[in-house]
Amino acid sequence: MGDAGDSGERSSWKDVDTTLAPFADDGGGSTLGEGGSEGDEIRVSEVLASLSFALDVTEGQPEGHAVRNALIGMRLAEEVDLSGQQSSALFYALLLKDLGCSSNAAKMCYLFGSDDRAVKRDVKTRDWSSLTGAISYVAKNVARDGTVPEKIAGFVKLGLEGPEAARDLVRIRCEQGAGIARILGFPEPTCRAIHQLDEHWNGDGHPEGRQGEEISPLARILGLSQTVEVFLREFDLRTACEMAEDRRRTWFDPDLVDALHSIRDDREFWATVAVRDPRSQLGRWEPDDRAVPATGDRLDLISRAFARVVDAKSPWTYRHSERVGELATETGRRLGIGEEGLRKIHRAALLHDIGKLGVSNMILDKEGELTDEEYAEIKRHPRTSQRILRRVSPFREVAEIAGRHHERLDGTGYHRGLDADSLSLASRTLAVADVYEALTADRPYRDPFSPGEAMEILRDDAGTALDADAVSALEEAVADASHLARGQQGPQSPAAGNRG
Ligand SMILES: [Fe+2]
Ligand SMILES: [Fe+2]
Repeated sequence: MGDAGDSGERSSWKDVDTTLAPFADDGGGSTLGEGGSEGDEIRVSEVLASLSFALDVTEGQPEGHAVRNALIGMRLAEEVDLSGQQSSALFYALLLKDLGCSSNAAKMCYLFGSDDRAVKRDVKTRDWSSLTGAISYVAKNVARDGTVPEKIAGFVKLGLEGPEAARDLVRIRCEQGAGIARILGFPEPTCRAIHQLDEHWNGDGHPEGRQGEEISPLARILGLSQTVEVFLREFDLRTACEMAEDRRRTWFDPDLVDALHSIRDDREFWATVAVRDPRSQLGRWEPDDRAVPATGDRLDLISRAFARVVDAKSPWTYRHSERVGELATETGRRLGIGEEGLRKIHRAALLHDIGKLGVSNMILDKEGELTDEEYAEIKRHPRTSQRILRRVSPFREVAEIAGRHHERLDGTGYHRGLDADSLSLASRTLAVADVYEALTADRPYRDPFSPGEAMEILRDDAGTALDADAVSALEEAVADASHLARGQQGPQSPAAGNRG
């Protein structure tokens, strides 16, 4: 069952068999294997390291968590003498371990009645696999801001859901994470490690309750490195090592805990983890066979993959980014925008709401009216999108387009209240596509508008808030492609079934 076989004997870290195919090269732009020449100056690892900051905020972690975790995991791998092939597969598993993080946020919110980011953040510092740890975790996180009756109701709800609920939360997340890693064309050991991120050495982890060497060696490293990163940052190295010792043979592989103790005095290394921007330290650990340029096709693929992460955050926006991508591209084409421009618009559309990953599902999925404070938080998401995307040098222009998708020609939009003079045709096109998609899709607080009703609303705003030419072009695009007309009807996602 496990990578190391079922003999129960410890095999050497070097001997564990993995089949590490290079990034698949199918010539069709569908994996990270090939592509044009646009981003040749920057490597795929740099793009993904920057985008991993979006995964961090979804997990309620400070930006840089996944990258620091990657530094620690690669140092542990070096210490246990992991083979070159395995280290290569490990590198991206460390960076992208949280690819599935958004997919269970809505369900977490529903189960706990609390801000998913806070619940997720707290799980990283607690030993929830012990009974006392689980009770104190639940006590703190059920209805965090609620009244006593709300807390009691929360306890009852969680009790009714039972342990299956916890397993389900992890299952949704790890299946989604491994699935997106496969879409990106990563080798199976990388995907498997992401899938087994929350398995524990003693078999009490999730989702499959694998034990000891049944767990992928790479996943064992991920499990330890991510927890060490949190303890190191929230407390110190000594506390991180004590935590690892406490969880030896329960959560963690004892050999890896030994490896952590061995590198404890490597001050030079720990100094690199503490630098302000840990991305600057990644190059030292990047496997040579993975140092591939971020070509145009690879950037497109990465954009599509992260659109899935964004869309999985809320059951109400399932496929929103993907549909805005199609609508914006088709609208832009009818406005006479060239292929290069359309490619940028498509990427901006796929990633325009990446900043929403940092907004709680308590707000995103709220059925009632938002408070002023909640609305202010929603209004921050274009700025967060812009900040995250700006860190990826080939996405600088994409960041500007995406950051303005809620701006309006008459200055009534957000987050900067820009007016027509500052809004390019690309931003105007994206804005129109975003509004149309949102209007035709179901929301927790209203039914979807029909395509005709949505178009009427757009026409009312044409020439004032929205660009009139873009509205006409969108109308043509929708008339030409009927599949673009209607958005999502009803909540759809793995988490949707439990929303009640
Ligand atoms: Fe938005
Ligand atoms: Fe949007």
